Amino acid sequence: MPPASKAHRPAASRAPRARRGRFVVLDGPDGAGKSTQVQLLAEQLAKRGVHTLSLREPGGTTAGEVIRSLLLERRQDRLTPVAETFLFEAARAQLVEEVIRPALAQGTWVICDRFTLSTLVYQGHAGGVDARAIEQMSKLATGGLKPDLYLVLWVDANVGIARRESRQADRMEAKGRRFIEDVAKAYKKLAGGRRSPYAFIQAAGLVEDVRKRIWERVETLL
Ligand code: TMP
Repeated sequence: MPPASKAHRPAASRAPRARRGRFVVLDGPDGAGKSTQVQLLAEQLAKRGVHTLSLREPGGTTAGEVIRSLLLERRQDRLTPVAETFLFEAARAQLVEEVIRPALAQGTWVICDRFTLSTLVYQGHAGGVDARAIEQMSKLATGGLKPDLYLVLWVDANVGIARRESRQADRMEAKGRRFIEDVAKAYKKLAGGRRSPYAFIQAAGLVEDVRKRIWERVETLL
């Protein structure tokens, strides 16, 4: 199994898995509670007999984990937003080809913590890299693969900062309050509109309430 990925097998599922798996993404600002919700969702799907694989971006492959430490370690302070974009997209290309596509083809559901919208928000809207260039790079990196359901868990900058106060900020989080505010605003702008292709979920409340909101959406894919 690739590093930082987690497989959940239902207790008793012996049936052949002929159908393609579903691809579900949970994205959003730091501190939105994505990793908790990814775990809860995987557990809930396993209870329904669905075989899932949980992944995070960047990461999930040997190359992706090396790229992750390059991107998130505090000593790499001089990486430019363009350099970041190439690195995030390189990790993504590897993850899609090496892990996500084969898993979906086998009938496994893939739940991914972050995907293409993160690059558009962090490097594009907050980092100043041209959005159309990012979209093209993402298309190349994913080979056009799109999630069946793209959820955005949204919290404002204050909630995000307060929630991660207990641990040290990584290199992206250490970019400062202004950057974090730009990130939260960009998620709302890109995902919160009526015609948005994303499922926008308010994530400031209780874990259990957010879990229910996510499940309402995911259940429709079963
Ligand atoms: P996380 O695993 O805690 O979400 O950390 C990943 C960090 O990397 C987070 O601050 C968001 C950032 N990021 C980008 O800036 N661009 C991207 O394309 C992705 C996937 C993550």
